[in-house]
Amino acid sequence: MQEQLIKNTSEAFRSAFQSEPERIFLAPGRINIIGEHVDYSDGFVLPAAIDKHICFAVKKTDDSGTCTFFAKDFNESFTFKVKEKQSPVSQTWANYLLGVFNAIQESGKEIGGLQIAFSSTIPMGSGLSSSAALECGFAYILNEIFNLNLTKKALALIGQKAEHTFVGVQCGIMDQFSSVFGKEHRVIMLDCHSLDHQYFEANLDGYSLVLFDSCVKHTHLTSGYNNRRKDVDLGKKALWEKFPAVQKFRDFSFEMLDEARAEMGETSYKRCFYLLKEIKRVEEAAQALSEGNAEYLGKLLNETHAGLSEEFEVSCEELDFMVEKTLRQNGVLGARMMGGGFGGCSINLIKDEHVDEVIETITALYKAAFGIEMKIYRVKISDGINEYKRNELVI
Ligand code: GLA
Repeated sequence: MQEQLIKNTSEAFRSAFQSEPERIFLAPGRINIIGEHVDYSDGFVLPAAIDKHICFAVKKTDDSGTCTFFAKDFNESFTFKVKEKQSPVSQTWANYLLGVFNAIQESGKEIGGLQIAFSSTIPMGSGLSSSAALECGFAYILNEIFNLNLTKKALALIGQKAEHTFVGVQCGIMDQFSSVFGKEHRVIMLDCHSLDHQYFEANLDGYSLVLFDSCVKHTHLTSGYNNRRKDVDLGKKALWEKFPAVQKFRDFSFEMLDEARAEMGETSYKRCFYLLKEIKRVEEAAQALSEGNAEYLGKLLNETHAGLSEEFEVSCEELDFMVEKTLRQNGVLGARMMGGGFGGCSINLIKDEHVDEVIETITALYKAAFGIEMKIYRVKISDGINEYKRNELVI
């Protein structure tokens, strides 16, 4: 699949620019085992990069005056001048790239001209972070080609900044971090307060993590994502006014939360309650994963879904249906919606020998209930953004 993507992207480059691409880069999407919506609240998350990518075919140009992109999947182009100050435009996909360019330009780094064609196997609007792959992929390319000496952490933060400033989604750091720092066969345990991270072996022999795509598309610009952040911010304000000595959100106790309940109001209380519980679940899940305790991990995933659906209210009818039905099947240890919510995928922990029958049953039930053909992704945990070396290329 990767070979085909590289081939198609290279061909798209040739037809858009009538020349050969010089370098090829691959930026992955991500899954998240557990730790949802806690990345903007000093929490821990357990994501991993996957074998679905945006491929970029790139050539440095001599004129140094312009950057031109060809988005193969939209059959659209976009050009901007590298010496000019950029602002958001009406072509949504271009804003992810312009936002990255702007963040790097603001830091005083010199960037020249480029031609880039890109194409993706990460489904858009499915909660697999195609936007982070686009942002961080471009930041990585600029860093490599113009020798900017930016660290990997800086690249992830630039991606996040682009999303805040040019796209308008107040996302956390999980998606960008996973796309940059992913490692084959390893899950990342990321402390979103310090950005310290450790790699864990995903020790789940005999079980599979399978994604069911509800095909309910969302964009966090119009979902409820930014509003959830506002609810949480109100809660945090009330907590810190009462307990100013506390350093990190995750250090607030449930007793403190109860004491600030009246000041923050019921909605923010529910949101913060979910977050504090979820942060604890991630720590337990990391332990369960390293001990290979799939049963316990499954139980935690189920609790997360209940919290996301009832307390954080970011699920939807289709995802709730899918998760509820999946949990009733033999061999299923855990199921939950994954990512920002309001559509997208569920992640399911299933005994290997039951995977096929669960897929068959849920596909049929989902089709009967909503008339939608759900999609299945059996993903592999893969490396973060990297350059695909020419001599490995089959183009
Ligand atoms: C989206 C955001 C992330 C994170 C998740 C929910 O993917 O981009 O920062 O908040 O939702 O965990």
